[in-house]
Amino acid sequence: MPRRIDSPRSWRTGVFAITRRRTDHLDRGSEVGARQGVRRVRAPRLCQTPSSPNLINTRQEFGVRSHPRSLSTPVHVVGAGGLGREVLDALFAVPVPADELVFVDDHVRNSHLHGVAVLRPEDVRGGRFIVAVGDPQLRRDLCARMVQQGASATAVVHPAATIAHDAVLAPGCLVLANAYVSTGTRLEAHSQVQYNATIGHDTSLGEFATVLPGANVAGSAALGADVLIGSGSSVLQGIEVGAATTVGAGAVVTKHHPPGRVLVGVPAR
Ligand SMILES: CC(C)(COP(=O)(O)OP(=O)(O)OC[C@H]1O[C@@H](n2cnc3c(N)ncnc32)[C@H](O)[C@@H]1OP(=O)(O)O)[C@@H](O)C(=O)NCCC(=O)NCCS
Repeated sequence: MPRRIDSPRSWRTGVFAITRRRTDHLDRGSEVGARQGVRRVRAPRLCQTPSSPNLINTRQEFGVRSHPRSLSTPVHVVGAGGLGREVLDALFAVPVPADELVFVDDHVRNSHLHGVAVLRPEDVRGGRFIVAVGDPQLRRDLCARMVQQGASATAVVHPAATIAHDAVLAPGCLVLANAYVSTGTRLEAHSQVQYNATIGHDTSLGEFATVLPGANVAGSAALGADVLIGSGSSVLQGIEVGAATTVGAGAVVTKHHPPGRVLVGVPAR
């Protein structure tokens, strides 16, 4: 029988209780998801990069590179900065044709960037969207604005990311290239796992949580809503990181911390 590697602490803190609570929450849908009537997305079994109507990540939805199939509605990439271009890269890799993508950004004066049209948020009418902004609070605000414009969230997973067969990704999630999302994980609505980051088994990410490039979140951890995990940092197994906490680049989080903290260093304080 395989040996369970969770620490005693992760048992005491009730991974299963967290899972149940979060499942109830999923049944109700996220605040945004509920308003949109968006269903949760569960990855199919035996599929490295799952496919679903709300998940843009496989060639099954769009056909092979040389014959991309048309999308029913345009996908709006909200934010045309560096992360926006990385999301574009993920969508081109699927591949989604440029004329079915739209950047939404009110700071860009050009009508097109990289062959993709740029709209102001107030000009959006329906369609799907993904917010390509790392800051959780700003992402929350932009998400609400897109919902007001009648758009519904979609998840985007780069085809070079690895997603376990039973991982659950909610609408609006973003997973970039070479990220690894392990078995039993839950990524709540609009959470992000950026490139080269890893999410260990049975770990959950709250809504709008962000794991920046190269960070490692170990197994059975729980990141609260709006948490930001800095580049190259580590969260050890079974740790709960309270909502709206920022973990600085390179930090190692070794124990539980209350919500709203900024943690830096090794061990993180
Ligand atoms: C932790 C963080 C949020 C602090 O940002 P801030 O509030 O603007 O803090 P400041 O830059 O003013 O720095 C305040 C102090 O903390 C130190 N500090 C900042 N970030 C640190 C880090 N990651 N590790 C250790 N010390 C850090 C600074 O050296 C400074 O120390 P001093 O007062 O002795 O000079 C930020 O530095 C950080 O690490 N963010 C993650 C960013 C990231 O991963 N980006 C990757 C993008 S791809």
